[in-house]
Amino acid sequence: MKLLIVGADGQLGTDMARLLAPLSAVTALTFHDLDITGRAGVKQAIESARPDVVVNCAAYTAVDRAETEQDAAYRVNVLGARNVAQAAQRVGARVVYFSTDYIFDGMATEPYDEEAPTGPLSIYGRTKLQGEQATREANPDHLILRLAWLYGSTGHNFVRTVLRLSHEKDELRIVDDQVGSPTFTEDVVHQLWTAIEDGCSGTYHCVNAGQASWHAFATRIVHRLGLNVPVIAIHTVDYPAPARRPVYSVLANRKFELEQLGGMRPWEGALDDCLLQYREQLSSASSESNASLGKARIEE
Ligand SMILES: NC(=O)c1ccc[n+]([C@@H]2O[C@H](COP(=O)([O-])OP(=O)(O)OC[C@H]3O[C@@H](n4cnc5c(N)ncnc54)[C@H](OP(=O)(O)O)[C@@H]3O)[C@@H](O)[C@H]2O)c1
Repeated sequence: MKLLIVGADGQLGTDMARLLAPLSAVTALTFHDLDITGRAGVKQAIESARPDVVVNCAAYTAVDRAETEQDAAYRVNVLGARNVAQAAQRVGARVVYFSTDYIFDGMATEPYDEEAPTGPLSIYGRTKLQGEQATREANPDHLILRLAWLYGSTGHNFVRTVLRLSHEKDELRIVDDQVGSPTFTEDVVHQLWTAIEDGCSGTYHCVNAGQASWHAFATRIVHRLGLNVPVIAIHTVDYPAPARRPVYSVLANRKFELEQLGGMRPWEGALDDCLLQYREQLSSASSESNASLGKARIEE
């Protein structure tokens, strides 16, 4: 099977390219190689690669900045998504698009399944929902995976932020009244591969099992890494941000479960595996007998 990954230098795209390369013929295009907002370039790249599946990992993900950069978010998350889906359709390829829990309004009291009504609170959430729709309309052969609270061993994410702050601050003050589904990039890649091999199409939720507040998530990171910093629970109102976030955005992988396509493991074990990778990065840096280099690597 031939796979083309766009946005291959992002957090998810990096792991996608690394983990799928041994399983299939992968072409990985970074933002530098291909800007998905350019329709002609996207068409040309996909026509020349002739993939069976195009995995669109490119996205505008700056949730707060999107509130003032609405057009930029729209161009990548909606128009870019449509370019990729259309070009894939023209060569008979399936397209994969990643969406988010931020398409929900957070008023639910039980996990959102794939049929739950949407109601984004932010520009980012709205553009991702529109990107889903653009993908569906442009290519009937689509697979949309809704992810949440994503982290991996590379890129910008909450785990890395907690590590950085734990070196900079005397205490961490973390929101405890937003609850979601922390999800490890590597588990998403494995679940996507299962779905592709099984020929799934349509919209699926794809998150690690269980739920946590940002405070519980941070507390586990700090404890598991043996960091010596208190983690104080605060309320959303004490940490004002430009974009509104859902209070409760836990997702249920109902469709994967119904189709018996493997359960995603609980978030705690997934996080522990990711933290092992952080530890290895740190210890390989220290083995060069350079503690400050180790800190720089983990915080980059
Ligand atoms: N991160 C989360 O917590 C989270 C949660 C739920 C869903 N998701 C979704 O999961 C997917 C992967 O997220 P992620 O965390 O891997 O995001 P990410 O690290 O921000 O990666 C997105 C990549 O797309 C690139 N990009 C931006 N504009 C582009 C363009 N016009 N053409 C080509 N590439 C472009 C970015 O480059 P620059 O960095 O240079 O801009 C970056 O390399 C996204 O669809 C996101 O919406 C993420």
